[in-house]
Amino acid sequence: MGSMDSAEKLNNTAGIGGIAVRLLVINGPNLNLLGRREPDVYGRQTYEDLVRLIKEQAAQKGLEVAICQSNHEGEIIDAIHQATGKYDGLVINPGAYTHYSYAIFDAIKAVGLPAVEVHLSNIAAREEFRRHSVTAAACLGQISGLGFHGYLAAMDYLAGRLASRGGAGAGKAAADE
Ligand code: DQA
Repeated sequence: MGSMDSAEKLNNTAGIGGIAVRLLVINGPNLNLLGRREPDVYGRQTYEDLVRLIKEQAAQKGLEVAICQSNHEGEIIDAIHQATGKYDGLVINPGAYTHYSYAIFDAIKAVGLPAVEVHLSNIAAREEFRRHSVTAAACLGQISGLGFHGYLAAMDYLAGRLASRGGAGAGKAAADE
């Protein structure tokens, strides 16, 4: 079941312009092994370190954030579906599903929430099969190769974009453009 059920949630009602922007951060397969998994590629910091960093950034910026991780495609799709009405934007690292999951692409398109795809490693500089993302086309953009910083940059971008469009609840409209 991964940690879908124990998604870390942080509430901060300060928000931007008095309205908390709500973001869901979704991590795909094998990201729970960060720190142990190919440290030359993904670094020595753990998944728990990543969760801590995201929560710290959310607290500093007055965002509401939930973070989840699953090794199962269907659970990731369910998390995307369940984000409707609860979150204003998605930050997603689909792991290897990036390269072949049309179902995750469809789920992101279906909910219409603005999403940013994040990769810790620079997928353009790795094996051929990693160079193409099928899921990025459902997102506003992709950040690749910046390590943990990519998640923070994605959160900043979505928070700024959503705030300029009216804060919480603006996600659907932004994605409909
Ligand atoms: C990854 C890159 C993917 O190709 C790989 O399958 C992952 C991690 C990254 O964050 O760099 O699991 O998404």
